[in-house]
Amino acid sequence: MAKARIAVLISGRGSNLQALIDACADPDYPAEISLVISNRPKAQGLERAGNAGITREIVNHKDFQTREDFEAALNHALKTAKVDFICLAGFMRVLTATFASDWRGRLINIHPSLLPSFEGLHVHERTIDSGVKLAGCTVHFVSADVDAGPIIGQAAVPVQPGDDADKLAARILVEEHRLYPACLRLLIEGKARLHGGIVIYDGTVTASGSLINPPAG
Ligand code: GRF
Repeated sequence: MAKARIAVLISGRGSNLQALIDACADPDYPAEISLVISNRPKAQGLERAGNAGITREIVNHKDFQTREDFEAALNHALKTAKVDFICLAGFMRVLTATFASDWRGRLINIHPSLLPSFEGLHVHERTIDSGVKLAGCTVHFVSADVDAGPIIGQAAVPVQPGDDADKLAARILVEEHRLYPACLRLLIEGKARLHGGIVIYDGTVTASGSLINPPAG
């Protein structure tokens, strides 16, 4: 079967991009990254894409008067590269409802919290300040509302005594790098699909184990 063509949109470090690059290096993985777009010319992730020999494009939001013009340029690049799915990976621009609806079912994002808790910015600080004992990350479809689209998958980690935002972020990031390629695979293989506003799995996807904090017994 032909591999799905993926675009990854970044703004910075690109460690999730790297996780997707590494997953795609496996001949059995059902995707290839056809294009990496950054809205920031100096994003570290551009270097990662270059090292992997992936086509890179800079679409700098500052070069456009309106969000619509910016997105028209994104769309031009995405359509020229004939991408099937778009993965946002630390992409720090809010996309319009029109863009989200044009790419509905094919546009996904990763967020470093267990949504619907802690949408938005400064997630790790807010997580620690809230006193919750489990944190994590979420891969979800992008909808018109920020961090609110149907959830494809989640990974949880404990919040540890003495955590600060950096420590918690690092613990979550390890799981982000596992979760994002796994969710993308489910989507491409049709094992996770939109149904009535949520994502359902087919019978082959089952979770095991549990995470308890504090440990019981
Ligand atoms: C990740 O924590 C991701 O969940 C959030 O932004 C961060 C991007 O990190 N959306 P990286 O650029 O993938 O390293």
